[in-house]
Amino acid sequence: MANGNEKELAGRAAAQLVRDGDIVGLGTGSTAYFAVVAIGERVKAGLKIVGIPTSVATAELARKLGIPLSTLDEHQSIDITIDGADEIDAHLNLIKGGGGALLREKIIASASKKMAVVADSSKVVKALGKFPLPVEIIPFAQAVLAKKIASLGASCTLRMKADGNPFVTDEGHHILDCSFGKIADPPKLARVLSEMPGVVEHGLFIGIAKLAIVGKGSSTSEIRPKTSLRKRSTTQHSRSTKRSRSRAKRKSKRS
Ligand code: 5RP
Repeated sequence: MANGNEKELAGRAAAQLVRDGDIVGLGTGSTAYFAVVAIGERVKAGLKIVGIPTSVATAELARKLGIPLSTLDEHQSIDITIDGADEIDAHLNLIKGGGGALLREKIIASASKKMAVVADSSKVVKALGKFPLPVEIIPFAQAVLAKKIASLGASCTLRMKADGNPFVTDEGHHILDCSFGKIADPPKLARVLSEMPGVVEHGLFIGIAKLAIVGKGSSTSEIRPKTSLRKRSTTQHSRSTKRSRSRAKRKSKRS
């Protein structure tokens, strides 16, 4: 199971980023699992931290591992959150929510000084959208939202459980899994979805993650967000303007 090994390598590497005294956001999913287990081992060895879990499932796991837990009511600023992702692009924009915990995950990641994403190599993509985008919705608005989101070019299906009932999130909502294919402009789609009444939250994490640790084969590599083209060209422009100004100064001194 190559991906399983990559997940464990990424999770364990990220757990080393946690420092004594940190308030730590504990992610959800099969990759974050390894980070939580490794943090649990460090806690057993004497590390003093407080964890804020992103789901009921992660809270149960952390409790079993002996990780002290608290809530956002007690700690509104989190030092580091370690969480998985379903897709990661070069700007470190993410699709999350495959495990259904995107709402609490986004709240916790947004309250964190640093979000480190952990993933196996299959999660790194050129463009987001192959993975169906999870959109957490109020059940009352389900039909109207499925139609509205479909009009943006997606096909939406209501997430179901194995027993034939709709999947219900930790906050009591439903999830529409929306297949867009390639998402041309993730920040724009994020804004459009956020403005739809009845959408509680969506799985596009734009500009939130500052680092991804990706397992590949038997090692890990780090991804940091690529500077956007606009930012880079502004910097290049101001550098070349400075260069031509000083060239002109030198010339005028010589003449
Ligand atoms: C849960 C998530 C997970 O982090 C995401 O689905 C990745 O999970 P895994 O590590 O199991 O592939 O967003 O809501």
